[in-house]
Amino acid sequence: MTGALLTLRDLSWTPALGGSGVRPFTLKKINMRIEPGEFVGVIGPNGGGKTSLLRCAMRYSKPQGGRVGLTGYDLWAQSARWSAQRIAVVGQEFPSEFGLSVREVVAMGRIPHQGGFQSESSTDRLMINAALEAMGIVHLQHHEFGLLSGGEKQRTLLARAVVQDPELLILDEPTNHLDPKHQVELLTHVKRLGIAVVSSLHDLNLAAAFCDRIYVMKDGQIAAEGRPWDVLTADTLFETYGAEAIVDAHPQTGTPRITWKFV
Ligand SMILES: Nc1ncnc2c1ncn2[C@@H]1O[C@H](COP(=O)(O)OP(=O)(O)OP(=O)(O)O)[C@@H](O)[C@H]1O
Ligand SMILES: [Mg+2]
Repeated sequence: MTGALLTLRDLSWTPALGGSGVRPFTLKKINMRIEPGEFVGVIGPNGGGKTSLLRCAMRYSKPQGGRVGLTGYDLWAQSARWSAQRIAVVGQEFPSEFGLSVREVVAMGRIPHQGGFQSESSTDRLMINAALEAMGIVHLQHHEFGLLSGGEKQRTLLARAVVQDPELLILDEPTNHLDPKHQVELLTHVKRLGIAVVSSLHDLNLAAAFCDRIYVMKDGQIAAEGRPWDVLTADTLFETYGAEAIVDAHPQTGTPRITWKFV
């Protein structure tokens, strides 16, 4: 029995056969563990398998091989509701949520914790208000979700994930669409929640500053794993992205600072 919160053991996954009959991609023998309270990043090139991996960990894609364990339980032996009571997700694509207000979208995060016909409790309301406040979207709560800007949608979806009160938060490029101030604010807020987080990130300076550990995904495999200073080296970055970087220390945080060279 492991003390880890999330454990992926020898996980493999292949998409269903496409029209051409070719299997273009597989996740191969992925091993990963996330401890309670850890902030773990997944980085790597486009198409490397980050989203595919996160989908297996969130009980969306069923792996053909290996095991996903959450607090020692086999995730795929549990119900979707069991999973939703423990794992919250902010995905790479926006859901459409036609016609719903921002507040209604955030309130959806409480559904896994409510009985069938139960309406919003006072605790639910307090949690929803706090999340709207924390994400700076109180003034938007009665606006239609579908009409928001990309960054406002992203903050609404994070608020929904927070009210779900999860043990594990899975984020797929959460800073996409956000301006610099909101990028930093969102990750600072997530970090302060103190829960386990696994997040794909393309901005390596943010990964360096916020992640306790980082996995590098390339060609469906984990190519490297470790603390930011172990992983974000010029050599590993070149092997991963084929791009040259200068790595020095961030003047404020002392975490790695990556500057891409122009060819
Ligand atoms: N359901 C699917 N059917 C067919 N191919 C898929 C499916 N899901 C993912 N793929 C393929 O798997 C590969 C990995 O995709 P994935 O979305 O996991 O990459 P990623 O690392 O998240 O990339 P990005 O940085 O662009 O978000 C891609 O080549 C993609 O086309
Ligand atoms: Mg992706």
